[in-house]
Amino acid sequence: MSENFDVKLDGKSYLPDPSVKESSWIQDYETAYNDFLKDPEGHWANIAEELDWFRKWDRVKEWEHPYAKWFTNAKTNITYNCLDRHIFNGKRNKVAIIWVGDDGKEEVITYRQLYREVMRFANGLKSLGVVKGDRVCIYMPLVPEQIIAMLACARIGAVHSVVFGGFGSNALHSRIKDAQAKIVVTADAAIRRGKRLDLKTLVDKAVVNASCVEKIVVLRRMSPPMELFSEIEVDFNEILDKEDKECEPEVMDSEDPLFILYTSGTTGPAKGIVHTCGGYMVGTYYTSKYMLDLKESDVMWCTADPGWITGHSYIVYGPLSVGATILITEATPDYPNPGIWWSMIEEFDVTVFYTAPTAIRMFMRQGEEWPQKYNLDCLRILGSVGEPLNPEAFEWYYRVIGKGKCPILDTWWQTETGMHMITTAVGEPMKPGFAGRPVPGIIADVVDENGQPVPPGTGGLLVIKEPWPSMMRTVYGNDERYRQYWSTIGNYYTAGDLAVKDEDGYIMILGRSDDVLIVAGHNIGSAEVESALVSHEAVAEAAVIGKPDPLKGDSIKAFIILRVGYKASDKLKLDLVYHVRMNLGPIAIPSEIEFVESLPKTRSGKIMRRVLKARELGKDPGDLSTLEE
Ligand code: PRX
Repeated sequence: MSENFDVKLDGKSYLPDPSVKESSWIQDYETAYNDFLKDPEGHWANIAEELDWFRKWDRVKEWEHPYAKWFTNAKTNITYNCLDRHIFNGKRNKVAIIWVGDDGKEEVITYRQLYREVMRFANGLKSLGVVKGDRVCIYMPLVPEQIIAMLACARIGAVHSVVFGGFGSNALHSRIKDAQAKIVVTADAAIRRGKRLDLKTLVDKAVVNASCVEKIVVLRRMSPPMELFSEIEVDFNEILDKEDKECEPEVMDSEDPLFILYTSGTTGPAKGIVHTCGGYMVGTYYTSKYMLDLKESDVMWCTADPGWITGHSYIVYGPLSVGATILITEATPDYPNPGIWWSMIEEFDVTVFYTAPTAIRMFMRQGEEWPQKYNLDCLRILGSVGEPLNPEAFEWYYRVIGKGKCPILDTWWQTETGMHMITTAVGEPMKPGFAGRPVPGIIADVVDENGQPVPPGTGGLLVIKEPWPSMMRTVYGNDERYRQYWSTIGNYYTAGDLAVKDEDGYIMILGRSDDVLIVAGHNIGSAEVESALVSHEAVAEAAVIGKPDPLKGDSIKAFIILRVGYKASDKLKLDLVYHVRMNLGPIAIPSEIEFVESLPKTRSGKIMRRVLKARELGKDPGDLSTLEE
């Protein structure tokens, strides 16, 4: 950790055309940041004033370490800000959502239509007995109904827990149970690369032994429509059609929970990160508008799925609260050909494009000729999220996609932070490899284990020193795990990332400091993959590490000790891969499996993954004093 990193990168930085800055919401980063430092609460109050509240706050912030309350006693509803206020401000017929299916089918939904659908589905949920505070699990493909279901929950104060449709049945089961979800909203199938992927059968498996679930709402997309059997299954469209058309927004306290979203931790099962109504709304609105520079006239395409925090914040809540048009698609980036995404940018006049480095690196491999076939002049802002944007990918993105005129925002943040925390504001000099500087409103630093700032160029731990509105409030059902975030290094919020700062205060993210893997921009806990492997009958013990992968960031390697009576074979490797796929989903599949006789452990029996990793990469394993043998 005290290694020295050469962060100069030839001192290369890129300065966008001055006109970008002049027309941006933020105007000047340094002024904005200094204004925030002079009056931190005033900064956030000014942003909150731009939104609609049923009742204003008594205090902007109450902070009793590690618990924060923001906009105390204020009342609002995030859907009022995402829908009603646009409807009442003359934007009824403005397009809210453009959806493109895997087969190219399109759907265009105006703000008025979205408002109506959300109210109808909200009433549908009420008719199933859902009340404020109930948890609703949403496990759907990337279709408009997924967003409608999220907003409908928020409308009536139900707490949504969206589970990415690519997860397997065990992952879904544990999330349903942990949140004690009363309802599961799903679809018969997702469509990927022309193939149908059954979701409902996975839900059927996941709800076994989950007696909390009272109803399963099924969107039937396929024909002939899937039969709904048991009494607990209900048709998505039927509950829409039966109900009253109006649904007043529930008056939510600023600190009422808005949603739970699960994210992987170092140990144990995934953590249910809890976000609240007021602070999350202000944070996502603020960063969509002032960081992504989103204007109502923009067409924003964030290529994530709403099943991840990126989708929650920058497909759904942020852009809709700003009143922009969002593009969503079930299409994969290279099907039917690697030009599909670029053709969509041209076709739908996308102005703000937000994707992950893994996608950019994939496109680099396919060659420049694909984006060159299309006119991408409409693009104004490019964003990146999920893992470090390496300088080569930055340069390609900047030159080939942005034609040297679009600012690139490499945004560092987390499920826990709810919103962008570190990036390079529009119009500021960009340094490839660096995410940038803290967003005005955020105090971030790179420190040693004792919480002391490390000098520029020295690696350290990334911390956030002060609370912010969209910070998570707790880990659902496990407040102790929440407190750990604020007690590991001094009194700071510990992100779990390693970073290095340069003389100008730009921060480069180096990767995780723990056993969380970032595979293709998705956060996966080693422990989760290990427990999926150990649940296979042939496996006695498993250890999982991440290996650097030029495309995916990390690729998963698993070391397996077999139970007595089982023999190592390629067939068994395939079985194990299939088993992980069914349990956790395709993103968690190990790319490599090695059968071993023993695993390095501490005397207390903990697997030392860092030793495995060092051996694998031919590096020094560091301090081995706690190793068993
Ligand atoms: O390690 C960091 C990495 O993703 C982690 C958070 O993952 P998750 O909660 O799934 O949220 C991902 C989308 C916000 C971080 O701790 N990460 C995220 N963005 C970046 C990043 N690493 C480097 N650069 C980024 N821009």
